[in-house]
Amino acid sequence: MRYLVTGGAGFVGSHAVLGLLDDGHEVVVLDNFSTGHRGAIPAGIDVHHVDLMDAAATNAVLGEGRFDAVLHFAAISLVGESMADPLRYFEQNYISSLNLIRACITHDVRKLVFSSTAALFGGPERDDPIPHDAPIDPGSPYGESKFMIERVLHWADRIHGLRSACLRYFNAAGADVAGRAGEDHRPETHLIPIVIDAALGRRPALQVFGTDYPTHDGSCVRDYLHVGDLATAYLSALTQIDERSVVYNIGSGRGYSNIDVIRSVERVSGRKIPWEAAPRRGGDPATLIADSDAFRRDTGWTPRLSELDHIVETAFRWREAHPEGYGL
Ligand code: UFG
Repeated sequence: MRYLVTGGAGFVGSHAVLGLLDDGHEVVVLDNFSTGHRGAIPAGIDVHHVDLMDAAATNAVLGEGRFDAVLHFAAISLVGESMADPLRYFEQNYISSLNLIRACITHDVRKLVFSSTAALFGGPERDDPIPHDAPIDPGSPYGESKFMIERVLHWADRIHGLRSACLRYFNAAGADVAGRAGEDHRPETHLIPIVIDAALGRRPALQVFGTDYPTHDGSCVRDYLHVGDLATAYLSALTQIDERSVVYNIGSGRGYSNIDVIRSVERVSGRKIPWEAAPRRGGDPATLIADSDAFRRDTGWTPRLSELDHIVETAFRWREAHPEGYGL
């Protein structure tokens, strides 16, 4: 099969590219390189340096490509940032996806897998695993922007027959087990790489945002899924959308607090990590744990790499070996 991967130079997208290549598929990457890295794309892959906000350029890529499906990762995706600049999130995530979806319809690309998010469920305080049919109540403009795109895809199927899988994934983490790719955000805002950098002595004191949440130790609880497991989830989702569009929650089903993550990095690195309590970060729900039962049942998918210490170990190895990430 021949796939277009938008955001293929980004953290999750680049690991999905590796998963597709390992599975014997042909891959073309589209990325605007605003946050992605050339070095994250394996040699020999066709790359379009295109911004999805550019409708004409997007249309041209889809027109030339003869793609069996599109895997759509490209987005801005920081919950905290979206609380400070909501309109940028609505504009950028929504319009870029609209351009892509329109180009798929124009050029008769029949399948799209969309990176949606657990941030759709960010509103109420809840600590039980969240099924895909739980009430939608985004706790941030980021989550809301993703939900808006899910609704466009709903209508794109009903009226134009574009089949889609919306994968609402929780916290993607870890690094390629073979060391071919890893996580390199600038600035880094995600917990696991930040804690690892603290362990490696590459940053000053680590702050834990909020220690008064209704969780077992007062810090937020998240469901961490290894990016390799996420890549196989995309391949599994593609098998589901010949006949109908689907929406699934994807996660490990287990929750770990921010302090649990610190303890895990301490175990893996063998180093003590100093941290301090800091105020809550805007838009953070207390607990987000996925109920992926529907996806597991329908596809047979199961996470194999997502035990927390294993996630941390793969991430630690990559960051230790790449002090400059993908370089300048
Ligand atoms: N955190 C800290 N200190 C830090 C950085 C993060 O305490 O220095 C905390 C956050 O406040 C949060 C937890 O660590 O409680 C996880 O934060 P991340 O930024 O790593 O991840 P988020 O849960 O905010 O968001 C991630 C993705 C989103 C996705 C969401 C879904 O970035 O795109 O998971 O759960 F929508």
